[in-house]
Amino acid sequence: MLSNKIEKAINKQINHEFTTAYTYLAMSAWFASKNLSGFAHWMHVQHQEELTHAAKLFDFVIDRGGRVELEAIGKPKGDYSSPKDAVAAALKLEQTTTALINNLYGLGAEEKDYATHSRLQWFVDEQVEEEKSVSEILAKLEMAGASNGTVLMIDHHLSKRGKS
Ligand code: FEO
Repeated sequence: MLSNKIEKAINKQINHEFTTAYTYLAMSAWFASKNLSGFAHWMHVQHQEELTHAAKLFDFVIDRGGRVELEAIGKPKGDYSSPKDAVAAALKLEQTTTALINNLYGLGAEEKDYATHSRLQWFVDEQVEEEKSVSEILAKLEMAGASNGTVLMIDHHLSKRGKS
């Protein structure tokens, strides 16, 4: 059985994962509007990945006999000044997610809820991958500078991302 404190915290994280998914979907739409279909594809796959994160937490609450309470999701930012601006925002989002996951992981230990602590281990590890993949794209865009040709090469590379 989940404590009220843990249940509330995981419900909050479910909302964050859906909010993140929605933000990536808005980023995908923005890239599509700029004819950068590789970036748009990458962001769309990322959107789907975030939905799976929300679903994992959703299932966990139910498996533990808790109650899922879904909250409203705000309107995501839909405009960016450049691909670099959008990807920098994605990295910031992942860094926020990492901080929230770390807090939740810590809360599991603090509350002696070892099942939550253990489940959250997957998310702690996943965040390393999440931050790494977005950081790599950002680093490439920084290297590209004002070269549209290089941005198009990155776009082509991102179009190859498989479904999560
Ligand atoms: Fe659900 Fe991108 O972390």
